[in-house]
Amino acid sequence: MVPHYPTKRSALVPTLLYAQDEVGYLSDEVIAELASRLDLTELEVRNVISYYSMLTTKPRGKFNVQVCTNISCMVRGGEEILHHCATKLGVGHKQTTADGMFTLEEVECIGACSWAPAAQVNYDFHENLTAEKMDRILDDYKKKATQ
Ligand code: FES
Repeated sequence: MVPHYPTKRSALVPTLLYAQDEVGYLSDEVIAELASRLDLTELEVRNVISYYSMLTTKPRGKFNVQVCTNISCMVRGGEEILHHCATKLGVGHKQTTADGMFTLEEVECIGACSWAPAAQVNYDFHENLTAEKMDRILDDYKKKATQ
């Protein structure tokens, strides 16, 4: 992957995403390995990880539910959607359900402001959310995982 980028450093984010997809999260070992391969310090790698909400150094559930509560989503009910998810799943911000199925996260803008309120589950966007729509979405993911 690295030769496709103008500098080794510019391969960092795609490489982190790839590693996270493979391992499930960015462990200390993954961080050390990528830092060494890209001629970066581990601190430089960790600084990038901490900037992006889609990257994590902690194991997550099978489905990472990121609910946006930034301004556009907030005025259209994003906080209520987050609260609804927390109640339904029985977990709070950055917590994972006991069955390991869902992790819930409150996030900043995910670039879907025109369709607020919005959420992202792994790589899927869900927009114009209501509590009922969110219920169906979460139920569908759970169904998919158990089929
Ligand atoms: S403010 Fe929620 S997607 Fe932009």
